[in-house]
Amino acid sequence: METRDRGVPGPLAPLLEAHRGRPGALLPLLHAVQEAVGYVPPAWVPSIAEALDLSRAEVHGVIRFYPHFRQTPAGAHRVVLCRGESCLARGAEALIAQAEQRLGVPLGGDTPDGRFSLEGVYCLGLCGCSPAAMLDGQVHGRLTPQRLDALLATAQERP
Ligand code: FES
Repeated sequence: METRDRGVPGPLAPLLEAHRGRPGALLPLLHAVQEAVGYVPPAWVPSIAEALDLSRAEVHGVIRFYPHFRQTPAGAHRVVLCRGESCLARGAEALIAQAEQRLGVPLGGDTPDGRFSLEGVYCLGLCGCSPAAMLDGQVHGRLTPQRLDALLATAQERP
């Protein structure tokens, strides 16, 4: 869907207007885009760059730098495992390997059926309850291999 006047994708237009002219607007805008549609469509980069008076390479560079930003739609279920220092010290690597094996995709990957995205993050703000993860937006702390297995089994039973 395109707006008639400037070729800006329809859902992007109000987000551009909200951020245009603001100093340091790129990161907040990218967050707003991902919040709105679940990822940052590569086709939107030219409009974002033009609105913020940046080059396309600058916008692409920021999107690629932060693993948080997706360039493709996420799976129906998002499994986000923390790989921050506190979680690593309490077994996060083994949990990541366990999730990769159970879902059959590497960290950062999506299952071919589009049901799961397995993502890493560098802190979920639950360091006191590490290791931690987030499943479909809900955070879970003090994970053990058994608890992670139960979480993933529950998610796999959902549509
Ligand atoms: S390092 Fe994992 S929650 Fe902070």
